[in-house]
Amino acid sequence: MTKRGKLVFDRKIGGGYFRDCFSVKGHADICIKVINPRPGLIRKLQLKYFRKKINLEEYKTYTRLPDEIKRFFNPVHEANEIFVVTSMPRDYDGSPSLSLKKHNGAANKKFWEEAEFLFHFLVKNKIWFFDIFNGNNMFVLKESNDEWVPLIIDYKQMGWKAFPFQVHLLFTSQKRKKLKRQYERLVNKYKK
Ligand SMILES: Nc1ncnc2c1ncn2[C@@H]1O[C@H](COP(=O)(O)OP(=O)(O)O)[C@@H](O)[C@H]1O
Ligand SMILES: [Mg+2]
Repeated sequence: MTKRGKLVFDRKIGGGYFRDCFSVKGHADICIKVINPRPGLIRKLQLKYFRKKINLEEYKTYTRLPDEIKRFFNPVHEANEIFVVTSMPRDYDGSPSLSLKKHNGAANKKFWEEAEFLFHFLVKNKIWFFDIFNGNNMFVLKESNDEWVPLIIDYKQMGWKAFPFQVHLLFTSQKRKKLKRQYERLVNKYKK
């Protein structure tokens, strides 16, 4: 049961290592992410020991985002241990926005300026969101025909806890290096 009452899944619109994402019958503006009932062994251990409340963590993260960068994150409306209710990103013409990967990259000045702003803001403020500079988790939100912005739909992987086996990530210098590598890889692969 959710704040909007009982929601009925329509169809699966995506899947990651941890969660599957579904559209919702009669609610075109939201989608629901549900913990994958059969995660691989590593994710299973992570979910059991380190990330028991992955959905609630994402919700909490959203409520605490600094104002300067909040617009880059797809809102989480509510969460519990099993599901998350989030917005369904849509372009100015009403069509569902696509991930950078499905969109085949982006040839748009504003998009990459905004991505760069986000990267520098995170480094300056030592906010270590790993996995946001990733073609599956970053969407291309078209505000108009020629104004596109990055929209992050998955931001649960924050800091060392997300990679407990990478002990070096306890050090700031290493976290900075990892984020920079992910950002540069994204630009190389998807900037058209
Ligand atoms: N708000 C959304 N709108 C559209 N598709 C989404 C949305 N959230 C997730 N997806 C799709 O579902 C996939 C899995 O969701 P994600 O939150 O990335 O799960 P995981 O935690 O397993 O990585 C995404 O890669 C994307 O394709
Ligand atoms: Mg993901």
